[in-house]
Amino acid sequence: MIQPVILSGGSGTRLWPLSREQMPKQFLRLTSPQSLLQQTLARLEGLDTQAPILLGHHAHRFLMAEQLRASGLSGTIVLEPEGRNTAPAIACAALLARQTDDDPLLLVLPADHVIGNLEAFTYSVSCAEPLAEQGYLVTFGVVPTYPETGYGYIACGRPLGGGYQLSSFIEKPDAERAKQLLEQGSTLWNSGMFLLKASTYLTQLEQLQPSMLEACQKAVNESHRDLDFLRLGEEAFRGCPGESIDYAVMEHCDHAAVVPLDAQWSDIGSFDSLWATQTPDEAGNVVRGDGVLTNTQHSLVIAEHRLVATLGIKNLIVVETSDSVLVAHRDQAQQVKQLVASLSQAG
Ligand code: GDD
Ligand code: MG
Repeated sequence: MIQPVILSGGSGTRLWPLSREQMPKQFLRLTSPQSLLQQTLARLEGLDTQAPILLGHHAHRFLMAEQLRASGLSGTIVLEPEGRNTAPAIACAALLARQTDDDPLLLVLPADHVIGNLEAFTYSVSCAEPLAEQGYLVTFGVVPTYPETGYGYIACGRPLGGGYQLSSFIEKPDAERAKQLLEQGSTLWNSGMFLLKASTYLTQLEQLQPSMLEACQKAVNESHRDLDFLRLGEEAFRGCPGESIDYAVMEHCDHAAVVPLDAQWSDIGSFDSLWATQTPDEAGNVVRGDGVLTNTQHSLVIAEHRLVATLGIKNLIVVETSDSVLVAHRDQAQQVKQLVASLSQAG
């Protein structure tokens, strides 16, 4: 049976000031009355799975527990003392899952996506299952629509029942490379979801990232229960190298596949992608809250506490919260991350 692994440890800084250290985006109700994490949990309904394993930062343990409970599901919440990115989180989940199941298929789901068509998602997972059983690390690929630099790109190789062999994986290319990849025609965006046999992933890590695997093994061996949570061994996990599965494994492994995903998928990674998931008005604007827009086009205006009025602007992001206001060009949506880093240094 499939073992869902929900990655809920990101900080979502590109959505500042909505997404904050204490309340990152996966816990926010950005696109519906359900948070992104709850939408992710609800996505499991159409599948026959074990209870999910959720992994995230210990500072967010009560948010995770509350939102899991509100979803009507039970599951294991694994706490990381510090984020070490996705490769170690998946390794710990694989090691933990193997304690109760010989070699489960892990369905790795980021907690910060929106999927409009659940049937199509379930169908892609069913196509991925036999490939993952054969020992492929299976990615889910989305047809790209613009040269996004915040995603991974997958070049498709020969057809493989239900999908394609993955011939190369390029994580977060620069703008020029992203444009080339898009023009190439046979590349897909990496959706960031994976289906893989626990043993396949652990074997890859053993070859590509032995010190990471060793630290994760130690962190799992030294983990302990604390109320409803499982805390990873703190010292071992802090000492683990931090890297994403994309850079650490996918860019280097030679036994990966991609299954197309046509499910109205969206990564709410930046304000630009949030804008893209909403239906704009006839001037191309998306407004949330008390916004009054005059002679304004293709802009996103979010007013949480006060009235926001705009006049004669185009392609801007304006986000007002109780203590901060962001005004940015839509072209710069990815750079909000660097802005937040410089703000925390200054603060
Ligand atoms: N448990 C845990 N611990 N989860 C984490 C950590 C961590 O240290 N860091 C990030 N996550 C979670 C995030 O909350 C998110 O759900 C998921 O892992 C992916 O991390 P992101 O930081 O959002 O990655 P990304 O968006 O830059 O890139 C990934 O997703 C893209 C599509 O959305 C990559 O897989 C790209 O290749 C892909 O295109
Ligand atoms: Mg993301």
